[in-house]
Amino acid sequence: MDYIAEINRLRKEKNAVILAHYYQIPEIQDLADYIGDSLALARRAAETRADIILFAGVHFMAETAKILNPDKKVLLPDLEAGCSLADSCDAKELAKMKAEYPDHKVLSYVNCSAEVKCLSDIICTSGNALKIVETFPKDQKILFVPDKNLGGYINRVTGRDMKLWPGSCQIHDILDAEKVLELKRQHPDAKIIAHPECNPAVLQVSDFVGSTAAMLKFIVEDPCREYIVATETGILHQMHKVAPAKTFYVASNEGGSCACNDCPHMKRNTVEKLYRCLKDETPEITLSEEVIAKARKPIEEMLRLS
Ligand code: 13P
Repeated sequence: MDYIAEINRLRKEKNAVILAHYYQIPEIQDLADYIGDSLALARRAAETRADIILFAGVHFMAETAKILNPDKKVLLPDLEAGCSLADSCDAKELAKMKAEYPDHKVLSYVNCSAEVKCLSDIICTSGNALKIVETFPKDQKILFVPDKNLGGYINRVTGRDMKLWPGSCQIHDILDAEKVLELKRQHPDAKIIAHPECNPAVLQVSDFVGSTAAMLKFIVEDPCREYIVATETGILHQMHKVAPAKTFYVASNEGGSCACNDCPHMKRNTVEKLYRCLKDETPEITLSEEVIAKARKPIEEMLRLS
């Protein structure tokens, strides 16, 4: 079966939009109506006029789309496509911590469950985290959830002292700064670019730190010809597209061929699963009205401020 032809037929017939994150496999990125980082995809989800949103990404991203579109059908090709960061913060534990720190505002990275969003004052993505933090007065106490690496990076850049939830992304956190530097010794002219979910040692040796969209913008505008890329491998597809004359080396712990920076959740989605999902209109993301109402406020606040 020609899955892509069938997806094209079905998306027209059903007035469906396909949103894909940069970490998806190249074939999915190429068939999507929109590709982007978490922030751009949340914006697209908020603006769409489609009846069905087929989300080629992970669970928390599709949940965000559902929260912003309670009357639309939001589909995720594989419900098992989760996120180690989102899993690292349990809403009940967060509720306990909030009770211990009643004078702290809760700023949550979008990589968290809908229940955690319900307990949050505002949401941020890696694309707008610095901007969102700066909307708080300097003396405002903040609890940052769930990524200790992104939170630590924001603390260092802004001079704040946010309290950090001890979560991390299984892909970014394990990248070894020594291995990154080894690659740099092999390619001394290359600049190191990293996602802020990487551990502090990797961020410290990086020439540029930014979200997936920010990294793409950087490599287009920057005069350098070679880059060592410290994030999930899916982004390479767009990098080659937007800067075909440049060279990219994937930072990994065991050399270029290691799959340690392939997110197992992002990579659960396949073209065949997208086709089946659109045809059968399942698996669908469902959330209670109460959760949608509560989780929507901090997301809308983020969209208003960014
Ligand atoms: P971006 O917001 O940079 O796309 O990152 C999303 C993500 O989940 C990174 O692991």
